[in-house]
Amino acid sequence: MNTKQIKNICCIGAGYVGGPTMAVIADRCPDIQINIVDINKDRIEAWNNIDISKLPVYEPGLDKIIKRCRNKNLHFSNNIKKHIENADMIFISVNTPTKISGVGAGQAVDLKWVESSARQISKYARNETIIVEKSTLPVKTAETIKKILLADSEEIIKDNKMVRKYSVLSNPEFLAEGSAIKDLENPDRVLIGGESDEAINSLKEIYLNWVSAKKIITTSLWSSELSKLIANAFLAQRISSINSVSAICEETGADVKEVALAVGADKRIGNHFLNAGPGFGGSCFKKDILNLVYICNHYGLYEVASYWQKVIEINNWQQKRISRLIVEKLFGTLSGKKISILGFSFKANTNDTRESPSIKICKELLEEGANVAIYDPRVSRKQIENDLERNEVPNSNNSNEEGNWSFSNSISDSAINSDAILILTEWDEFTKINWNNISNIMRKPSWIFDTRSIANLEEAKRYGLNTWRIGNEFK
Ligand code: NAD
Ligand code: UGA
Repeated sequence: MNTKQIKNICCIGAGYVGGPTMAVIADRCPDIQINIVDINKDRIEAWNNIDISKLPVYEPGLDKIIKRCRNKNLHFSNNIKKHIENADMIFISVNTPTKISGVGAGQAVDLKWVESSARQISKYARNETIIVEKSTLPVKTAETIKKILLADSEEIIKDNKMVRKYSVLSNPEFLAEGSAIKDLENPDRVLIGGESDEAINSLKEIYLNWVSAKKIITTSLWSSELSKLIANAFLAQRISSINSVSAICEETGADVKEVALAVGADKRIGNHFLNAGPGFGGSCFKKDILNLVYICNHYGLYEVASYWQKVIEINNWQQKRISRLIVEKLFGTLSGKKISILGFSFKANTNDTRESPSIKICKELLEEGANVAIYDPRVSRKQIENDLERNEVPNSNNSNEEGNWSFSNSISDSAINSDAILILTEWDEFTKINWNNISNIMRKPSWIFDTRSIANLEEAKRYGLNTWRIGNEFK
């Protein structure tokens, strides 16, 4: 079988996927030169920052790899033309958000960044090039990419034959944020979809440097593109399922942690992804399911579309019921009360806040007149300001003021004089809070709402705090 040996990779998009994915390939394949390019100058500058703590993406283990590979075989640049020209394999790892206007708004994927990448490739690529879809895309997007690429491309001579200049592969990414490096170094599977065996093998050879052959699945382009959407839909469905169960538990006196343990012990069900919480966040679950719903409707599969739509509805409902419950427990009004928010990222070990449940929940608390003091070990003040779409009003502990938010530098800074603590992200430091100290600095009666089931509520209760945990009203 022919295999083209890859020497130069260009990755378009230096984001949460492009950065870590290419870093791991560079680390495992020292003979391949990798250039990650982006239209965003600040992002590239941050990736090139000598101060390794200033990388634009926080992922455990990423800094060490960047130190090892940067400026050796891993480079970050805004010179898109040059690096496309030199590449024999190009990954498209750009953003694919939900469309906000026009046909399919609110559901379909906005493919403008993918299309502009394809046009850049069509304009600058000189070699016989393998194009790899790394972004999550609607099924059949490879068709569009091929049309753009082939519209302008001549055939080139290879082994005395005229061949097409491009092959398109689908190689979706399954990493989860916070564990990206572990997931990339030891993936459950690598999926490659394509039409050309030669192109598939060239990509497979790269992964074989650290992934065993039995974990590499090859399929058609369409199965690969669709599998990525379905994997995310199944994961999100599990979370909505357990979150719906958390509400039943709260009504009936059952405990969702015990139910998850008992149910997950069945090998056919499995015990992963059964943690009830404030609803799933992150940039992908919602947009990928919305896209799946759009595709189903497009093909007239209305019942299937409404089945998947419910996963999102339960997620919205779960987020909403948390703010409602807090109002209810705090005597029906939050006006001028201080709420300490612990955690703003959508999950632990990442600085990413996209679709974080904290955003919606904080906005609702602010609308109810609460003053919220937000502490997150990795999310910046500026990011919170952008997400809440309002300026910070520091030190708004004064109950004459209402509906303000402030940034806190520590748990106690956030908790001081507060009426309630609301844990929204499962950061490790929130599992070790000294409730004796905290109860002394809060206003009485004080509450703790634990949406992640991580705090030691028995201890908190001993120090006089009222407690609530998701899926189990702690009695
Ligand atoms: P991101 O927004 O962090 O990064 C995308 C980058 O692409 C941005 O920096 C943007 O400036 C750049 N870009 C856009 N158009 C460009 C162009 N024409 N030329 C050069 N640069 C361009 O997005 P992300 O989180 O890395 O996600 C990328 C894709 O991967 C999405 O399709 C997403 O669904 C998928 N995905 C994401 C994750 C995740 O955990 N974030 C996991 C698996 C798959
Ligand atoms: C998810 C998938 O896990 C990845 O496989 C996929 O590649 C990625 O989406 C993507 O396509 O973007 P990610 O969103 O980074 O990864 O993180 P997850 O660990 O899946 O968590 C998503 C959300 O679900 C978080 O808000 C998390 O707190 C929540 N969650 C997760 C729960 O509430 N309960 C759980 O048991 C698990």
